[in-house]
Amino acid sequence: MAIASILSTLQGHVLKSPLQSLGVAAIVVPILYVILNEFIRSSARVKGLKGPTGLPLIGNLAQIRVNAAEQYRIWSRKHGAVYQIQLGNVPVVVVNSAASAKVLFGQNAQALSSRPEFYTFHKIVSNTAGTTIGTSPYSDSLKRRRKGAASALNRPSVESYVSHLDIESKSFVEELYRYGQAGKTPVDPMPMIQRLSLSLALTLNWGVRIASQEEDLFDEITHVEEEISKFRSTTGNLQDYIPLLRLNPFSSNSKKAAEMRLRRDKYLGNLNRDLDERMRKGTHDPCIQANVILDTEAKLNGEELTSISLTMLSGGLDTDKAAKAIEEFYGKGEPMCSADDDQKYFCVLRLALPRTSIRDITYEGVVIPKGTVFFLNAWACNMDPDVWTDPEEFRPERWLEQPDAPMFTYGMGYRMCAGSLLANRELYLVFMRMLNSFRIEPNEDADWHPVRGNSDPTSLVAIPQRYKVRFVPKDAEALGEIVAKA
Ligand code: HEM
Repeated sequence: MAIASILSTLQGHVLKSPLQSLGVAAIVVPILYVILNEFIRSSARVKGLKGPTGLPLIGNLAQIRVNAAEQYRIWSRKHGAVYQIQLGNVPVVVVNSAASAKVLFGQNAQALSSRPEFYTFHKIVSNTAGTTIGTSPYSDSLKRRRKGAASALNRPSVESYVSHLDIESKSFVEELYRYGQAGKTPVDPMPMIQRLSLSLALTLNWGVRIASQEEDLFDEITHVEEEISKFRSTTGNLQDYIPLLRLNPFSSNSKKAAEMRLRRDKYLGNLNRDLDERMRKGTHDPCIQANVILDTEAKLNGEELTSISLTMLSGGLDTDKAAKAIEEFYGKGEPMCSADDDQKYFCVLRLALPRTSIRDITYEGVVIPKGTVFFLNAWACNMDPDVWTDPEEFRPERWLEQPDAPMFTYGMGYRMCAGSLLANRELYLVFMRMLNSFRIEPNEDADWHPVRGNSDPTSLVAIPQRYKVRFVPKDAEALGEIVAKA
């Protein structure tokens, strides 16, 4: 009765002075929206888990827009190793220490076997080209795809790729020599690193090489995959957490995502068609796509095949760690030490890839309900002061002193990186050949710091700023001969 009379008074007021009513509504409606949303936001929090509460509507988004992993590490000193943040209304449990990661991701591996879906990446970028394994929620199809990828990336398979690693790492050294004019000209090694990784990914998956960074396909794929990797940022896309922003028809983010999707569809389609053609003629080289197509037991449909190829492409293009380590090595004499420390210090995927729980998990008496998003802060876990006395130092020898210390660079548990054997073998060979061939000399001042020196601190992937160095041959004659033969 009271509501009816309020409504009728309001109606009378609106009819009498419509402009004034509009003005009042423009103020009152957003305030009511914020109050209602605050209620929803606070009831979404995991009960009993501490963590910074953040601001209305956006939660902690403003605080973690840049260098999120480092901010999470700093917060862990105040809120403990495991705490919650809120991205918009979405609560996220952040895991920051080696011991807590072991309990949550190791002991609850099955419960943490899914991935969250994000509006920008899953609804815009991936709606035609499909998703990679690493971005797929748990399902029967995911299990089939993981099985396909696992058999393509297990130890015997990786062993069979060594001849490709050999060719590509030699080409890499040859390009450093040629573009750097035998040490006379400073060069940016990034295109060489990208060519190496892309060529390897294409060879393994479709049986075709990218022999030179001057090929058109090189520019197209590296550009598009780099842009798409930005859409995977767990913090860079505000529309993922604030649904209101999705209504913006002029959103440049959505437009760009759609354009990248079309461009990716095009080269994927061409690569697949060319392989089909070669398979029909019987001229194809053995490769993962052909193996999976010919394997009738794998029972993978077209979309699942595409998912595997996208996985190989995006996983295989993860080159930043190599670049970071080059930066660190340069100027330190002629180090032939193990290249492992960069995996701790210059962790590429600092927040691994996000997970979602498919069952309730009880952690130290707190029930974290199923469907909660988890971030493994690999950056913080790798620098855990309970594991290392000097976590902030770049000191590769630490791995000789504590060879069994945990490393989180490849994630942990059920959805851990499937390509770590291949990635390690590739990195090892490339480092050894590069460091054996060249002395790497500085050319310009650049900030190599893993947090400050990041070229895009909002990205999911840690990417160094571009820089130039000189690759001076250690034995110019011997290297010249090898390059001439190549
Ligand atoms: C240095 C290079 C690489 C790094 C640092 C890296 C790191 C990671 C990380 C942190 C994850 C998420 C793990 C988790 O959620 O616990 C992941 C997932 C994955 N990686 Fe890698 N990766 C690298 C190279 C590769 C390569 C070369 C491939 C394959 C060609 C690959 C294939 C995969 C796949 C398939 C997944 C998804 C697993 C799943 O969701 O079930 N990775 N990687």
